[in-house]
Amino acid sequence: MTQDELKQKVAQAAVPYVRDVGIIGVGTGSTVNHFIDYLADFKADIEGAVSSSIVSTERLKKIGIPVLDLNAVGNLDVYVDGADEVNPHKHMVKGGGGALTREKIIAAASKKFVCIVDETKCVDVLGAFPLPVEVIPMARSYVARELVKLGGQPVWRENYITDNHNEILDVHNLSIIEPTKLEEIINNIVGVVTVGIFALRAADIVLIGKGDEVITR
Ligand code: A5P
Repeated sequence: MTQDELKQKVAQAAVPYVRDVGIIGVGTGSTVNHFIDYLADFKADIEGAVSSSIVSTERLKKIGIPVLDLNAVGNLDVYVDGADEVNPHKHMVKGGGGALTREKIIAAASKKFVCIVDETKCVDVLGAFPLPVEVIPMARSYVARELVKLGGQPVWRENYITDNHNEILDVHNLSIIEPTKLEEIINNIVGVVTVGIFALRAADIVLIGKGDEVITR
């Protein structure tokens, strides 16, 4: 199976988690795109979705699912999203697609986070995938210097602006041994909007597309 076929398979496996839920949280990325495509067949059961990006919003609207403002709907029962890396503790690195801030907000406001990944995303230690950090534009260089002090090599994601009009630093060469601790430390750097470590609020369920099967962790 190709990686994309694995993404498709795991996306399909997430559909039962959102049947009869009402309003769902929807993430961003190529795996979630497959998930949204599957939702088309069940859209009558779905009252609406809170979306983590402009891209996902467009895709949801295209298949006729109303996109709602999180402020208007309160907490959500289920959030479905992909990840760039996930460890055995269900901690994740996210933000390869640049949507990390809205993703983290929806994750925080959801009772259950269902993470959908293909097996290539499973790691023992997070950090091989460059860690995305969304920053206020004027703070970019300052934050980069602080990240160097932590042992990382930040690279500016040039010509990229987030949906929130901010910039992203992708931090290379970090071995994230203590994800919750590093999440707190980077969160506390002035000028950081969001760090792509999702450990303080980890996933509740991880669905992994592996060969012919989908493993539930
Ligand atoms: C988006 O900002 C990310 O957090 C995605 O969830 C992550 O990059 C996974 O993307 P793919 O499903 O495209 O691999």
